[in-house]
Amino acid sequence: MAYELEQLATDCRESLRRDPGQFGLEEVRKHIERACADREFVQAHLGPANEDARKILYEDPDLGFCILAHVHLGVANSQPHDHGPSWAVYGQVAGETEMIEWKEVSPGRVEKLRQYRLRPGQAVVYLKGDIHSPRREGETRLLRVEGVNMDNVGRRRFSPVEPA
Ligand SMILES: [Fe+2]
Repeated sequence: MAYELEQLATDCRESLRRDPGQFGLEEVRKHIERACADREFVQAHLGPANEDARKILYEDPDLGFCILAHVHLGVANSQPHDHGPSWAVYGQVAGETEMIEWKEVSPGRVEKLRQYRLRPGQAVVYLKGDIHSPRREGETRLLRVEGVNMDNVGRRRFSPVEPA
């Protein structure tokens, strides 16, 4: 049976109600992986008809988290950033994201911690304050959850400093 958006939202809500911390987020990550791998879900929300860079699919009226679809039709690179007061779960639906995680070594300056590829069907959690930068070389489609709607919230940006 297809995984419906409404069911995904309910599953995320229940997980975050039980535990808004690390364990709840790990469950959210698994719900997102399930949706990323569900052909009907992807067709309905991240199929060829969707070319929106950022589209809110669901916003929870009580907990405030948002489920979003992102389509990048070409190269799309972000500088290192966090999500202000929010965590984020990134799920890859199509294409590949080259992700770098960073640590802040002095105010506003970061060094690379690790680098990996997010492939279709994979999702990863960034806790509040985790600094990351995605690079996309070709078309990518992502399903993401944010702890709050980031439309009106500032995210901090950082500059890489090469290790001495
Ligand atoms: Fe991000």
